[in-house]
Amino acid sequence: MLREEGHDVRVVPTDSALRFVGAPTWEALSGHPVSTQVWDDVPYVQHVQLGRWADIVIVAPATANTLARAASGIADDLLTTSLLTATCPVVMAPAMHTEMWLHPATQANVATLRSRGVTVLDPAVGRLTGADSGPGRLPEPADLARVVDEILAGGATQDLAGRRVVVSAGGTREPLDPVRFLGNRSSGRQGWALARRARARGADVVLVAAHVDLPELPGVRTVHVGTAAQLHEAMLHEAPAAEAVVMAAAVADFRPASYSDDKIKKADDGSEPPAVALVRNVDVLADLVSRRRPGQVVVGFAAETSSSADELLALGRAKLARKGCDLLVVNDVSEGRVFGATTNDAVILGADGTIVADAHGSKESLADAIWDAVAKRLP
Ligand SMILES: Cc1cc2nc3c(=O)[nH]c(=O)nc-3n(C[C@H](O)[C@H](O)[C@H](O)COP(=O)(O)O)c2cc1C
Repeated sequence: MLREEGHDVRVVPTDSALRFVGAPTWEALSGHPVSTQVWDDVPYVQHVQLGRWADIVIVAPATANTLARAASGIADDLLTTSLLTATCPVVMAPAMHTEMWLHPATQANVATLRSRGVTVLDPAVGRLTGADSGPGRLPEPADLARVVDEILAGGATQDLAGRRVVVSAGGTREPLDPVRFLGNRSSGRQGWALARRARARGADVVLVAAHVDLPELPGVRTVHVGTAAQLHEAMLHEAPAAEAVVMAAAVADFRPASYSDDKIKKADDGSEPPAVALVRNVDVLADLVSRRRPGQVVVGFAAETSSSADELLALGRAKLARKGCDLLVVNDVSEGRVFGATTNDAVILGADGTIVADAHGSKESLADAIWDAVAKRLP
């Protein structure tokens, strides 16, 4: 796939990899000779040349063994030696049985690699080599190729490498009875764009998603939630380990005061239905701000309806003062703008209310403007 896109690809198999797919296959597909060890083509000093030559290294599948060797800096074949000489972005796509993936040794190796700026994708969940399934599956090749393209498109910017970020996305639903809920029009696209761009810039990303009808992002751990209370709980669980928290989800401010176990019925006598009483939900953003750990950057969103740009800014600044977050993304959601659209117009305010950036265009470009502002504030 990468070659079809015009990339020049060099394949560096391990000896074990060649037991599954032979060298002639790799040589024919890549158009280059392959070797597994540093003792071939010695005058060329392959491991140094490869490390300098590559714009990106992708290890896919990354075995538990190779993750361990890379984490401890072992250099006993051409692949691991090249990993030590490469200064470009490195992406690893672990694939193994669930037990191997969850083993503390593997998890510690992954954490070490991530702390050094390697993008270690979370494996997909699904059918494994045997009849079993679970986390440990190699993401689909097209998904891996997309990750490579996104990182290359972001140039050499790996300014979030080794950083852990949590993004909330989508809209919560507050149930009224078994068939009805109070919801909102958020599609989750902005949160998805934030997660995609953070991953492309090297971050380790957790996405807390409420009712989003978008394909899972490879290499991003997604936690699905339904109500504001569930989103709150998930954020409290994920935020302490994160260096940046972006609350792009549309969280319900209110929920029905009571939930009816039975569907609320129309009265036969034609009388009006009872009014739905509402109660306040926890303010998730304000709570995350109050629990912010030192150095953590918390970003809020303000979806406002206003008649002028000045009024929009004033509403944003008032919200910023109430919430105390480090950055607030203010956008006008009047007349069906923003929700479900692929573009966004927004102003990013700094903690003191000054305009940090004015972003117009795709949700991806707004995501990049937000991460630019976050990256500047990270310790
Ligand atoms: C049929 C078979 C399937 C395997 N699948 C995996 C796997 O998916 N992930 C993994 O980490 N190891 C797997 N292994 C074990 C590795 O092949 C073994 O750890 C090897 O030493 C890895 O070497 P390398 O990291 O140098 O490629 C498998 C072994 C066999 C025989």
